[in-house]
This record gives sequence, C-alpha cells and structure tokens, in this order.
Amino acid sequence: MDIFTYFLPAVLILSFFYIMISKKSSMGGSGFNLPPGPPRLPIIGNVHQLAGKIFHEAVWNMSKKYGPIMLLHLGSQPAVVISSSELATEAFKTHDHILANRPYSNNLRRLTFDYNDIAFSPYGDHSKKMRKVLVTEFLNAKMSKSFKKVLDMELKSVLDSLPYGKVVNLNDLFASFIVDFACKIVAGKGYGEVKIGGTKLKDMLDEMLILFSGSYSEMFPKYGWILEDLSGWTRRLNKHMSNYDGLLEMMLDEHIDHTNEDEKDLIDACRSLLTREEMKGIMSNVFNGAVDTSYLTLVWAMAEIVKNPRIMHKLQAEIRSNSGQKLRLDESDTAKMPYLKYAVKETLRFHGPSPFLIPRDCVTHIQIGGYDILPGTKVLINSWGLAKDPRVWTENANEFYPDRFEKRVVDQFDMTPFGGGRRSCPGYNFATSTIEVVLANLLYTIDWKLPPGMTNQDLDTEEEGSLLVRKKTPLLLVPVKHNSQAQ
Ligand code: HEM
Ligand SMILES: *[C@@H]1O[C@H](CO)[C@@H](O)[C@H](O)[C@H]1NC(C)=O
Repeated sequence: MDIFTYFLPAVLILSFFYIMISKKSSMGGSGFNLPPGPPRLPIIGNVHQLAGKIFHEAVWNMSKKYGPIMLLHLGSQPAVVISSSELATEAFKTHDHILANRPYSNNLRRLTFDYNDIAFSPYGDHSKKMRKVLVTEFLNAKMSKSFKKVLDMELKSVLDSLPYGKVVNLNDLFASFIVDFACKIVAGKGYGEVKIGGTKLKDMLDEMLILFSGSYSEMFPKYGWILEDLSGWTRRLNKHMSNYDGLLEMMLDEHIDHTNEDEKDLIDACRSLLTREEMKGIMSNVFNGAVDTSYLTLVWAMAEIVKNPRIMHKLQAEIRSNSGQKLRLDESDTAKMPYLKYAVKETLRFHGPSPFLIPRDCVTHIQIGGYDILPGTKVLINSWGLAKDPRVWTENANEFYPDRFEKRVVDQFDMTPFGGGRRSCPGYNFATSTIEVVLANLLYTIDWKLPPGMTNQDLDTEEEGSLLVRKKTPLLLVPVKHNSQAQ
C-alpha cells in the first residue's frame, strides 16, 4: 500500500471533472525560475513515474538526474523535493518561518480531530500553544521521572518473560513493549489488548500509516473528496476514526488522576489546559509519533548490531564494564556509554524511520538554491537520501558503522531523522534516550544468537514502506543469558 493506492481506477473520472470544471493556467512559462523536474502529464502530474515504486528511493534516484532541488506534481499539487544537506540547511535556517505550515487536506483534517493536533495543524496560535503544552507539561524533567519508572517496569517484565534459548520475533516483542509503554505514559495503564470495533491500538496505528500516507484529497485538494467517497476511502476512514475515537474516549473516561508527581501521565499533565478534542489530538500525536518510529528503530538497531559481531562485542564490552552490579540499567548508566549513543545515532542515520519529513507548505514566494518556490507548493525533504549521500557520508555511506561518529562532527542538517526548525520533532530527546536504555538492557545480560542454521550474512536488512521505512522481514533471534551475570 502506498500513496497511490486507490489511485489508478479513478483517474479517468477525475480527468472528466477537471476538464469540465477547471481551466487553470499553468504556472510554468511565467517568468519564474522554477526548479527542474521530470516531464509531467496533465492532471496526474508525475504520479505515473512513481506509482508502485518505493517513493523516497525513486525520488532520490530522480534527483540524481534533475538535481538537489526538483519540481514534481503529485496530481494537481506542485511539490518541491530537496535532496541535499546544503539546501535543507537553506530551507530550515533561512526560510523556516515560511515553511512552518503544513499542507491542508480533508483526509488529514479527519485524521487529526479537525486539526486539533500538533503535527499536522496549520502553523499558528493553536499549533504553537499545543506544542508548548506538550513540551513544557509532558516532555519535561519532572515527568521524565515517571517515564523512567514505567520504562524500568516494562523492561523487567520483558527480561523476565523472554523465552531464553528459543527463537523470538523481535518485531512482535518490541511492538507490544512500545505500545504498552506508550499507553502507560499517556493514560496510566495498558490498553494494548483492548479491542474497539474488533481492532486493537496497534492495528489502528497500522491502519493510520495507510490513511496518513495520503489519498485523493492530497493530490486534488478541491475535488479529491469526491473520489474518496466513490472509492470507499471515506468509509474506511470513518470506520477507523470511530474505533480510534472510541479508544481515546475510553482512556479519558477511565483515567484515574494521579497525585504523586512520579506517577503522572500525559492526561494528568495536560487535561486542565486543553479541550477534549485537543486532548485527543495530542494523545494521538504521541501514539503516532512515538510508537512505530521507536519500535522500528529498535528492530533496525538490533538487526544491524547482531549482523555485525564486531559492533555487538564492542557494545557489550562498553555496557558490561559500565554497569556495576545493577539488575537493570537506566539513563544514568547510558550516559557513560558513548559507543551505544553512536550506535543509536547510526541506526537513525542509516534506517531513520521517517524517509520524508512531514510535508511543509510554502506560504509566500521564496527562493531556494536560486530557484523560485511559489505559494501553495509542498516542500518535501528527502531525509532518507540526505543520510546516505556519499558526498557527505563518504564511500562507506551504505555501511552500518557507528564508529564514524567517534571522529566526525556532524553538521546539523547532514542527517535529519527528527526534521528541523520550528516543526521539528519535540520527542527527539525522549525517543533517543528511551531507545538507548532499551538497547543497553537487551545487550547487558543477554547474548543474542541467530536461529539454528542461520549465519549473520543471512540476516537481511531489506526495507519496505513509504510513510515509515520498516525491515521487510521480521527479526528472529535467540536470546541466551550471558553466563557471567548473576541473576
Ligand atoms: C525514533 C523516534 C522518532 C522519530 C524518528 C520521529 C521523527 C519525527 C519527524 C521526522 C517529524 C517531522 C519533523 C519535521 O517536519 O521537520 C516529527 C514530528 C513530530 N514528532 Fe516525532 N519522532 C520520534 C518520536 C517522537 C516521540 C517520542 C514523540 C512524542 C512524545 C513525537 C512527537 C512528535 C510531534 C508532536 C511532531 C510534530 C511537531 C510539529 O509539527 O510541530 N515524536 N517526528
Ligand atoms: C534506484 O537506483 C538504484 C541504483 O541504480 C536501483 O538499484 C534501484 O532499483 C532504483 N530504485 C527505484 C525505486 O527506482
């Protein structure tokens, strides 16, 4: 499933609409110096060149031909794609305030409780207020004590229940672990097994990955909704939103307010400052923003570490020599583990879960790289490509090599796993430190082996996905208790 699902069968219907209704003049040939790009067809733009391909990779390949700034048309929507760290720097440093808006679509409006969220809402008083509430009330030092306690409890239950000596599917393990962790820091208790309309939270998040990756109304803002109705998309969206809304409502209704500082969750922290719809928007952003990204990063990290025994041994030596006699490790321990931090950073470089940043909407005429970008153009930053650019990352750009960070000072926009500027990811510190603590614990008392008959060369790291990049096949490993650790 990708951005073009549901697309082809209805292109014809839409063509008729367009020919009958709109006689828009094209923007080209009007004295502007527009970025170069591949030739396009009327109505569908460049969609035919991208349909069925891995979007970020196909666009990265195109940029080698057309350059680091390129104009595409996704349906009727002009989109400029930026594919170099120099131009990303220009976008984020010089034009951040003009690119801080997000494109509007009816589909996104429905998915975000009428734009009562942070991530997709238009830049303005509402988005600024909401972002501030998330950062000052939730992602602060006081709350991090609650998170630490929850994380430690979750780790204990994972380490205690691992079937040592047997094959474990780490995708399933990390998914349920992160879902549980997220529910507890958002709503104070686990909701991973609760079903609404037959679906669990993780199924809803999977469904949202498809729904968020866009539909007709992203490509045809004016009339796309008609095709969404005809193709069954709207019915699918309504069904999903009714289940998801039901679950978030249940969390709000069942919530028992905590009085102890170190037990507070998102609902405790924000409820008195926000409306009910805003609460659902912010809860939804934490679920969408934190769960899949963190879980996919954990899977990638473990896959690359186990695939590279030298790296695994170096990490285990660092972790085991810095841990004293503790049963489980926390942030105060990972603070002493620079190589672990490099390994997480390298995972976010090489397998950053979000290949494109959330699209920006250009609100006034600007120039990037000497080219004109007109209002109403989407600006897409190819984060996936930037992080693998051999001009920046040299000849071993396509190798998992945490040691590179021992020597290298990274420029701010050489890699952008969390985006940049005023719409960048506010969960960046929280996510990184959680991932570091989880990995430290998994590598501390456990040695990870491959399933019988498999060698580390067999461990494949093929990618799939458009909105988020995941490992194509599940990661199967055998945990073995490390003998020198007293349990
Ligand atoms: C490995 C984990 C994560 C990754 C890779 C990630 C990545 C991203 C990216 C690429 C963006 C878009 C930035 C842009 O447009 O420039 C973003 C936005 C956002 N993320 Fe994260 N994220 C992660 C974890 C989290 C967590 C843990 C939270 C919340 C607790 C979170 C909340 C958000 C929110 C609210 C936004 C929207 C910000 C805005 O529009 O102002 N993310 N994230
Ligand atoms: C991009 O180019 C590489 C190298 O030429 C090729 O292997 C890959 O299949 C291309 N990917 C897409 C999605 O077109």
